[in-house]
Amino acid sequence: MIGGRLATWGARCQSPGMMSFAPRGPLRGTARVPGDKSISHRALILAALAVGRSRIEGLSDGGDVQATIAALQAMGARIAQGADGAWEIDGVGSGGLLQPETPFSLGNSGTSARLLMGLVASHRISATFTGDASLSRRPMARVADPLRRIGARIDGDRLPLTVEGACPAPPVHHRLEIPSAQVKSALLLAALNAPGTSEVIESVPTRDHLERLLRLFGAEIEIDGARIALRGEAELRPQRIAIPGDASAAAFLAVAALVVPGSEIRIEGVGVNPGRTGIYEVLAEMGGDIVFENRRDAGGEPVADLVVRHSALEAVEVPPQIAPRMIDEYPILAVAAAFAAGTTRMRGLAELRLKESDRMAAMAPLGALAEDDDLLVTGSGGEPIAGGFTIDPRLDHRVAMAFAVAGLHARLPVGIADMSPIATSFPGFCATLDGLAGA
Ligand code: S3P
Repeated sequence: MIGGRLATWGARCQSPGMMSFAPRGPLRGTARVPGDKSISHRALILAALAVGRSRIEGLSDGGDVQATIAALQAMGARIAQGADGAWEIDGVGSGGLLQPETPFSLGNSGTSARLLMGLVASHRISATFTGDASLSRRPMARVADPLRRIGARIDGDRLPLTVEGACPAPPVHHRLEIPSAQVKSALLLAALNAPGTSEVIESVPTRDHLERLLRLFGAEIEIDGARIALRGEAELRPQRIAIPGDASAAAFLAVAALVVPGSEIRIEGVGVNPGRTGIYEVLAEMGGDIVFENRRDAGGEPVADLVVRHSALEAVEVPPQIAPRMIDEYPILAVAAAFAAGTTRMRGLAELRLKESDRMAAMAPLGALAEDDDLLVTGSGGEPIAGGFTIDPRLDHRVAMAFAVAGLHARLPVGIADMSPIATSFPGFCATLDGLAGA
């Protein structure tokens, strides 16, 4: 085991540092997850550009979204949390962002970095972007190159870097080669302050949260198949928004319930945008008993309560085309596969090497094999896995939570050398597990 104080799950898991996860019996009851991280970033940014006061309920409480809040405040938006937990944002108006006095410190948040690069690129300001060791390793050329084409000056392809915006910027015309909602969103945000009509064309559809929010805030946006056309210099109207629960965070609880015998849980108010539900389709194909109940609409996004029961899982082949609709869920899918009967092959995962950590390599302690861009996991057929190892999550929240779930049905505990990265997206993860385990 890697050294350090060993806290076992059930002791408080919000404490940073080493944690160990072992079986605690079935998971039962009702849980909620933090507000969707992708929607939270985007709602804040549009509220910061609107004229007047917006109100956002259910914002993600993770560190990534805090990083976006701080950057928007540094550019003049007034953002504060009320006593009831909701956030109020006084926007500066489209084109009204102010010169920030200090660099943006974005921690682990790739979404903050890429979306804010797009935002700054068409304003007459410059901003320096910094991040932690994980974020500083991640490629930014995919955003920087198209932004340079509209006149932004960007002095590097990895953080730290400085973006000097072009104003007025010409409209954006870009066809996305890599399927990436972050790149698409960065370009649409740049387009918001560029006179004329911009167009972004997707090669493969990715999460459309920004497009839905743009419509809600009153921007002129037209979507015709893969082509998104957005009229710049938009007058955005402030909104009241309730953010649905994060489908990616919910996937950790869902897989925990699927693999721990005797479990039955309900996760309330989860966003089920089709751009995010690939994981649930694959788990259902594996034999997972997951029911979406009480489907409804909240702020332009589909929402449901997820009921998940322990299930015997079968291996499947996961085609590459589904990857953009579940790109963050491969670590937890690999855990589900580790309990299935047979060998699961997940195809076309080159992008996984470029996430918060190299997620192809990260899953090796589960016996996962990387074959070119495919990941193969042979399962236990529902038996507990061996466990008895400790992983270093390398600043990757999703790797930490995935292995924590693996420990819930293992013969020997699974150690996580540093659990603190979970605070970027799901600070209450362990407390939520505690609640479901009847602690
Ligand atoms: C996100 C898009 C995805 C995802 C990330 C959040 C977003 O990244 O991995 O966690 O909010 O747009 P890519 O667009 O780079 O695939």
